Amino acid sequence: MNPDAKIIAAFQESSEAYLSLAKLESVTGVPRTSIASRLQLLTDHGYVFEQHPHHGYRLVEEPDRLTADAIQAVYSGGKVGSQILVFESTSSTSDVIARHASRARDGLVVFAETQTRGRGRQGRSWVSPRGKGLWFSILLRPTGGVAQAQQLTVSASVAVAHVLREEAKVDARIKWPNDIVCGSRKLAGILTEYRDTAAILGIGIDVNLNKDDFPAELQTTATSLLIETGRVHDRNRLAGRLLAALDQHYTTMARNFETVIDQWAGLSVTLGQQVKIRQGDQLREGLAQALDVQGRLILRKDNGQVEYLVGGEVTGG
Ligand code: BTN
Repeated sequence: MNPDAKIIAAFQESSEAYLSLAKLESVTGVPRTSIASRLQLLTDHGYVFEQHPHHGYRLVEEPDRLTADAIQAVYSGGKVGSQILVFESTSSTSDVIARHASRARDGLVVFAETQTRGRGRQGRSWVSPRGKGLWFSILLRPTGGVAQAQQLTVSASVAVAHVLREEAKVDARIKWPNDIVCGSRKLAGILTEYRDTAAILGIGIDVNLNKDDFPAELQTTATSLLIETGRVHDRNRLAGRLLAALDQHYTTMARNFETVIDQWAGLSVTLGQQVKIRQGDQLREGLAQALDVQGRLILRKDNGQVEYLVGGEVTGG
């Protein structure tokens, strides 16, 4: 963790109202001679501190801007998040990862405050209004190569649903293949793409969008944490929690994917349902029975035939 992230974490984790320079030095290991200038720099970035002549400093406001420091104050990093970059604007965070894929470190995460050409599944675009959501992509090189693509996406959807449930207290569930939904509305989406042996895991989460931030055609089918809970959510904190959970599930996936399948099943709104699944111009109908060990959906058709599906769109129950 860099010094600024340590200072932010010290304030966030402290139960005391004020922290003196001596206390900040002992908690963070940052020399007290440089703490005042670091606080000034953080102030320039939108943090507001209150200074008390005897007791020290108190953090009273944090900026609603994503920064690597603020994310690292929550999650100091593992394999996922070995490096974190935050862009003001980019075409797609997955494009940035793709450009760096051959030389970047495994676990690189790229966030953007807005995307001008965000991509969704099935060739759709992904609406990414500035400062309202979490739009990010992760570079991973799973040991099983491209064959693990589906496992990776399944693990990521479990991690995302868990964190949204815990942090925002919403009833986030997984609609096959990997939409995160609240009731019948979509809250987040995942798009895994491949560049040589590298997986690019792209995740979009509608955090603080109002109804009007969605285009008219999505207003009845999409939702956000703000819409669901009536309050604005701290995106840096959420980002840190998400990266921690994604890291944890990535490790579990490699050791024991069955555990991840069980968690997925517990969160799924699709399993056990009679479903219609569209794949291009093909429509399949049957019982969504389970996920197999590769993360494919086992669809039992009415004639008893079984199919193993990787992608598609559930069009009706
Ligand atoms: C879906 O359609 O459900 C998948 C949406 C994935 C959106 C994310 S936002 C970050 C990353 N960059 C993109 O262009 N797409 C993914």
